[in-house]
Amino acid sequence: MKPVIEVKGLKKYFTTPRGMLHAVDDVTFTIEKGRTLGVVGESGCGKSTLGRTIIHLHESTEGQILLDGQDVTNLKGKNLRQAREKMQIIFQDPYSSLDPRKTIDYTIREPLIVSKRFSKSEIEQKTQELMDLVGIDERLRKAYPHELDGGRRQRVGIARALALEPKFVVCDEPVSALDVSIQSSAFSDSIYRY
Ligand SMILES: Nc1ncnc2c1ncn2[C@@H]1O[C@H](COP(=O)(O)OP(=O)(O)OP(=O)(O)O)[C@@H](O)[C@H]1O
Ligand SMILES: [Mg+2]
Repeated sequence: MKPVIEVKGLKKYFTTPRGMLHAVDDVTFTIEKGRTLGVVGESGCGKSTLGRTIIHLHESTEGQILLDGQDVTNLKGKNLRQAREKMQIIFQDPYSSLDPRKTIDYTIREPLIVSKRFSKSEIEQKTQELMDLVGIDERLRKAYPHELDGGRRQRVGIARALALEPKFVVCDEPVSALDVSIQSSAFSDSIYRY
């Protein structure tokens, strides 16, 4: 099977007042299409930074990132925007990752609008499909993030991440905001069905 993501010798160092912090240090792995790779480690060991660096939310310090065989490590401008559409993230913290001033409806459809690839009616239809996929009730369309509980906010984050049918999704503890009793069932099921 062809790899979707290849990470080679990836490093991300942060400059801090106390010196250089080696958050990600020489990480190498490959993920094939349709496969999931779990990253486990204690708090602060660099899991989120690794995911963020792969999808270019952080600039890498060293190493190489290949998406579908294409070297995307040093892309800039339009090429980077195009590559980013194929790599999405479900954030660890749904409280801070959603814009408090935007309705749920708009938050989910925004990536579709920004991509400029869809007509108005396609955007309408896809938004509805995404809401159904993650189980967000129709009546919450015009709600704002603060009106939702942690689980529903996280579902919105998932719908948004899946909107452009990415090839690769970083799931940064995507069920940590949910009640323990449902973390392993209905919710994660909606990702795997996708
Ligand atoms: N933007 C940043 N600037 C400076 N240091 C950072 C930055 N982001 C993360 N770090 C540091 O990098 C290290 C790795 O953090 P990271 O959030 O990746 O860990 P984690 O494994 O995801 O932890 P957790 O399990 O708590 O989510 C930590 O020491 C953190 O303080
Ligand atoms: Mg983390």
